[in-house]
Amino acid sequence: MKPHSTPFRGFTRREFLKASAAASLLPLIGSAAPGLTTGSDRLRIGLVGCGGRGIGAVRNCLAADRSVQLVALGDAFADRVEAAMNNFTVGVPGGNNPRPPLPADQFAVTRERCFTGFDAYQQVINSGIDLVLLVTPPHFRPLHLKAAFEAGLHVFAEKPVAVDPAGVRLVMQLADLARQKNLAFVAGTQRRHAADYLETMARIRDGAIGDLTGGQCYWMQEGLWHRGRKPEWSEMEYQMRNWLYFTWLSGDHIVEQHIHNIDIMNWAFGGPPVKATGMGGRQSRTDPIYGDAWDHFSVEFEYASGARVQSLCRQAPGTSHRVGERLVGTRGTANPAGQINGENAWKFSGEQINPMDQEHIDLIRSIRAGQPLNEGRQVAESTLTAILGRVSAYTGREVNYSWLLNASKLDLTPPAYAWGDAPPVEIPVPGVTPLV
Ligand SMILES: NC(=O)c1ccc[n+]([C@@H]2O[C@H](COP(=O)([O-])OP(=O)(O)OC[C@H]3O[C@@H](n4cnc5c(N)ncnc54)[C@H](O)[C@@H]3O)[C@@H](O)[C@H]2O)c1
Repeated sequence: MKPHSTPFRGFTRREFLKASAAASLLPLIGSAAPGLTTGSDRLRIGLVGCGGRGIGAVRNCLAADRSVQLVALGDAFADRVEAAMNNFTVGVPGGNNPRPPLPADQFAVTRERCFTGFDAYQQVINSGIDLVLLVTPPHFRPLHLKAAFEAGLHVFAEKPVAVDPAGVRLVMQLADLARQKNLAFVAGTQRRHAADYLETMARIRDGAIGDLTGGQCYWMQEGLWHRGRKPEWSEMEYQMRNWLYFTWLSGDHIVEQHIHNIDIMNWAFGGPPVKATGMGGRQSRTDPIYGDAWDHFSVEFEYASGARVQSLCRQAPGTSHRVGERLVGTRGTANPAGQINGENAWKFSGEQINPMDQEHIDLIRSIRAGQPLNEGRQVAESTLTAILGRVSAYTGREVNYSWLLNASKLDLTPPAYAWGDAPPVEIPVPGVTPLV
């Protein structure tokens, strides 16, 4: 079947108007967070990828600045657009985290501006917006970024920004294009916008723990969701619905999730490492429903100074939780989330806005100031660092960053984006899986 993009059919017009009218009668979403701008010019945004984070990113962006207005939605699947529309127009009541409907003046999505299919991104980009939020599985990010910057849009792109070196190379070129066109490129590596991280990193740069000699970073947690299989789904639909477990779509969890902590290490060391040696495998997610993704990795990254960083990540039911980073220096150690130990001991006690709000506040402010933030290069480097760890572990080889960046031919793009076959599932075996 051909890839398609169609106006959204999930709601009838009557249902849609009813939901919109209900939304307009309900109170606005709280007040603007402290220090936010409230410009008078509308900034029109569209969302590509109407899942959990996409819905969250819209809410973060609208809360950042009352002049932001959501006008278009796109997703591969109509039911995800419908779920997002419900979230935005009806809200989610009860529980610890109730979500009110979006403020009426910030919601201008019409049925004609809801799109589905593999090229929904192009329709959203063409729908008269200023800023697009790209929040699909990471495989699609380079393609979507290219279309957005070529169309002259500002971008918020969730991390990671690619799953293979071919994608990272394109994103690096696009970061340059965005700079030339004076367009914003802000990434979902929200720790870079968190007050506690920012102040700790400033102190480390000022010598609070001396010269950096090493570090550790972790993302270890229980298992994550699986969305099952329906008989009417093609293999492509099944993989897309369960994208976490397919490396061509997610990059595997070292890339998809652990990039947050690896990014902190690159931030601290002033750039990516020179090489990595990794290992890992799958011990608890052995069922074929879990595609080709592994459930644990252990990687040593070596930076230009010779400092080594140990990275551990795991997703396995019944295991303990540890997410964070630690830096070791000649005069102390640091938890970059707000603590220095040693002769310059210190603990963060400042004001902190939720960094997922803060990144959108910083994004919108930079656009309004005519000095759009561009985080493209740094998030591309951190994406490639995580891919470096994965490739080393999958192949069982030590791998150089510069080789991966400049010479690797690894490109996980499938022959076609269509609702039929999907890439074959081959679980990597160290010593057998080739380095390409
Ligand atoms: N910054 C963070 O802390 C954070 C947290 C969660 C997720 N994320 C990132 O956000 C992204 C999305 O994660 P999620 O948890 O929302 O996943 P999700 O599965 O809930 O949502 C992804 C959505 O994208 C849609 N989609 C898939 N392919 C598409 C395509 N080609 N075109 C249009 N839509 C498509 C899916 O149908 C789905 O609705 C991932 O890159 C993830 O790593 C970041």
